[in-house]
Amino acid sequence: MGAAGLITLEGIEGAGKSTLAAWAGEWLRGRGARVRLTREPGGTELAERVRRIALEPGPERVSADAETLLMFAARAIHVTNLIRPALERGEWVVCDRFTDATRAYQGAGRGVDAAWIEALAERVHPDVTPACTLLLDLPVAVGLERARARRAGPDRFESETQAFFERVRAGYLALARAAPQRIQVIDAAAPLESVQQQIGAALERCAAVAGGLP
Ligand code: TMP
Repeated sequence: MGAAGLITLEGIEGAGKSTLAAWAGEWLRGRGARVRLTREPGGTELAERVRRIALEPGPERVSADAETLLMFAARAIHVTNLIRPALERGEWVVCDRFTDATRAYQGAGRGVDAAWIEALAERVHPDVTPACTLLLDLPVAVGLERARARRAGPDRFESETQAFFERVRAGYLALARAAPQRIQVIDAAAPLESVQQQIGAALERCAAVAGGLP
């Protein structure tokens, strides 16, 4: 395996990201890579505590700005304590969501200023950019149905409206159009075998860009 890098998975709820992140990790391991699987918001003990604060429903109002800052607070802790050290050790980091999620959920979904999000990203991880991003795309109704079947009590995002998730999905697809080299769109509504095949092909391309397979 060539130079290691950060691979991120993105998409709306119900796209199967966590399972497919684990599958992508195994794919890379099968080709001799050392792999660290992680997720956002969270990934370290302290960042997981920030995750609970960010996602738990409660009586107090959490503004879109507060939500954005919580996501970046968790991310700053995660990058410092896990992502950057792992990359420096030569490991591949497979991360279930990263800054594209803030662009899609807080930016496109909640209307937070895109320039402010970019300024925070530049401040928190100027040196860490995904080598490749797999955008697991599927119709909102299908994703929400899958997510609802899976969970007991919805978090603050899962109780959002379909219109919110339509904006998030459109936001993700706009990001993919703007950065076609980095973001590869995967049809996550397809049968599992086809989704895995698409991911394998995307990782093949990604590894070639990041340094090549042995
Ligand atoms: P997940 O377990 O589905 O990934 O849950 C995380 C939730 O947090 C999901 O609804 C998306 C949301 N989120 C944001 O709104 N902004 C972010 O930057 C990140 C990382 C997640």
